[in-house]
Amino acid sequence: MEWGMRNRVSKIIRPNDSRCLMLAVDHGYFLGPTEKLESPSSTIGPLAKYVDSIMLTRGILRTCVNPTIDTPIVLRVSGGSTIIGEDLSKESITTCIEEAIRLNVSCLALSIFVGSKYEHQSLSNLAKLVDEGEKYGIPVLAVTAVGKDMIRDSRYLGLACRVAAELGAHIVKTYYCDNFSSVVAGCPVPLIIAGGKKTTENEALQLAANAIKDGAVGVDMGRNIWQSEYPVPMAKAVKSIVHSNYSSNEAYKGFRDEITSSEIKA
Ligand code: R5P
Repeated sequence: MEWGMRNRVSKIIRPNDSRCLMLAVDHGYFLGPTEKLESPSSTIGPLAKYVDSIMLTRGILRTCVNPTIDTPIVLRVSGGSTIIGEDLSKESITTCIEEAIRLNVSCLALSIFVGSKYEHQSLSNLAKLVDEGEKYGIPVLAVTAVGKDMIRDSRYLGLACRVAAELGAHIVKTYYCDNFSSVVAGCPVPLIIAGGKKTTENEALQLAANAIKDGAVGVDMGRNIWQSEYPVPMAKAVKSIVHSNYSSNEAYKGFRDEITSSEIKA
């Protein structure tokens, strides 16, 4: 791996512990103004310093993020379908590599839809994006998206993650599942997990801790952070799992303590 590529990967997966905490705020690209992400700058601003990187589209980056920010950017570059459209799996590459370079991003992200009607299109998008990324030393994060009817088990996710790695993805994002360690074992590049729909803070922290224990290098979490009533304490709690190997109980205690101390100060 060349210097530029290694340097950018190190912005996403931190070299001191090979772990990664990514804040996902790209939901609007197919969902529109998702709850608590209606005003992206208000959501992102207070959280940016507690995460290693932020995943979002160019439109939100350009309009809602201060360009003097230190936090590395993971740019979502696939899209073109919405929740009310024909088929969510029908995506194209929506941002060219020159724009990604102008925006000084550290990583490109794209969804693949293994087993869907547009499987081939999404996989060929990934292969093309990896070729472009390799030319300029920009890593590609493949996101294994699942349709509503697809079972998120280790057999399916293991296949999707392996295919992403075979096509050249440098990092793969998937869902946590039973027997997740077999998904990790079959994927030769680092795996991170998505947080998924909002659950209780305790459950989300358990998910993160289980994923790390089973071999994920980190999490790309969105709704379970910024849809929490206490997003900053939640981001800090997830960080304590990812970077300090806290158990979910220890992290949850930290979350509660943080809320109590902020309430006392107020
Ligand atoms: C969905 O397609 C996006 O890639 C999100 O970035 C991803 O699902 C992670 O966000 P959340 O933790 O809210 O699931």
